[in-house]
Amino acid sequence: MKILVVGGGGREHALVWKLSQSNKVDQIFCAPGNAGIASLATCVPIDSDDIFRLLEFARNEKIDLTVVGPEDPLVAGIVDIFQEAGQKIFGPCQAAARIEGSKTFCKDLLKKHNIPSGDYASFNNLDDAIEYVYKKGAPIVIKADGLAAGKGVVVAQSVEEAENAINKIMRRRAFGDAGKEIIIEEFLEGEEASFLVFTDGDIVVPMVTSQDHKPVFDNDEGPNTGGMGAYSPAPVISEGLFRRIMNDIMIPTVKAMAAEGCKYRGILYAGLMIKDGIPRVLEFNARFGDPETQPILMRLKSDLLPILEACISGHLAKTIVEWDERPTVCVAMASGGYPGKYEKGKVISGLNLASRLKDVMVFHAGTARNEDDRIITNGGRVLGVTAIADTIPQAIERAYNAVSKISWDGAHYRTDIGKKALKRL
Ligand code: AMP
Ligand code: GLY
Repeated sequence: MKILVVGGGGREHALVWKLSQSNKVDQIFCAPGNAGIASLATCVPIDSDDIFRLLEFARNEKIDLTVVGPEDPLVAGIVDIFQEAGQKIFGPCQAAARIEGSKTFCKDLLKKHNIPSGDYASFNNLDDAIEYVYKKGAPIVIKADGLAAGKGVVVAQSVEEAENAINKIMRRRAFGDAGKEIIIEEFLEGEEASFLVFTDGDIVVPMVTSQDHKPVFDNDEGPNTGGMGAYSPAPVISEGLFRRIMNDIMIPTVKAMAAEGCKYRGILYAGLMIKDGIPRVLEFNARFGDPETQPILMRLKSDLLPILEACISGHLAKTIVEWDERPTVCVAMASGGYPGKYEKGKVISGLNLASRLKDVMVFHAGTARNEDDRIITNGGRVLGVTAIADTIPQAIERAYNAVSKISWDGAHYRTDIGKKALKRL
């Protein structure tokens, strides 16, 4: 089969890597891809949100299956557009992708179907929003309703901070039209975890659990990023909690989407807050997580391709999904200055040394090749150095040993990925 993977980050490198191991796959294209993906797939210079050029490419190349990584094309309706053109594609349709594309849609759905989440109210009027904040008090969470690349969320510690956030999102439109409407949420305390499932719209098959590390610095300090590292499994999710999350959250959400007339097929990813053994939904994403996909797919023993195909055809019940018992840890290495302004074009050294290490995968995110054919930085998050081992402490050590071989001017990374898991062992 000929596969097209849409996207060019660490998540897509992990997808391409895993799909390339399938004996049903003959050739993989990736749009736009990156320097690491280029060793496994043919990279095509088309942006991941240029839907019509992607469609033209898929038709011309006679692609058998397109797999979408990021949320923007899903929310923009890439799945509907490909399907109407007779192209097979993996991911939720536009109406289903609203679960990520509109926070209000998501929270209304959860409330209506009694799926545990925090209190909230939505506003398209600035004064009403500010009045609500003064009534509720802080801490309180302000979010742009639409997609804002993970940046449209402010956890405000005071009502003044909340008011500033409302002004920034609604009046100054810092995130454009994503801030036409805002949602104000109860602040939830606890420990976060990521819970991803495959679903064909009826059957829900869980992946192994994972935990992201959003803040840029150690001990969860500093501004939020796309994710500075992840590990799997997340010991905060005990066996009992795992069942509870499936029964109270994941299965009911898939059922709720079908009941609302927008059957959900693809990856459903819940961002959860867990307190005293009780899980509540912070948000849903309509896709694989980044960086969670890197440690999760490194644990997937089964061929990924038949699982994705079964989600599309509705045959997930008959599909085998097997996982490696061993834990994985992924450390993101980022450009100096990220998540703020950063420079690109720094030559990366030590990649070959690190990639040759046993049970280590160096997934590329923002990388490219320069005129001298050297691999250079080309984004904020640059690499996801991922290791598998018998225990979490060993996986941490293995990942950081690989990280220590890699360097470039200004590189930075957290030194405490996986530490929260250690506390629970
Ligand atoms: P989101 O993009 O909605 O996941 O929000 C980004 C991050 O903000 C989450 O990973 C949490 O750390 C934090 N956050 C979002 N919503 C809440 C909430 N209601 N209570 C506490 N923290 C939150
Ligand atoms: N790891 C966060 C996300 O993929 O949204």
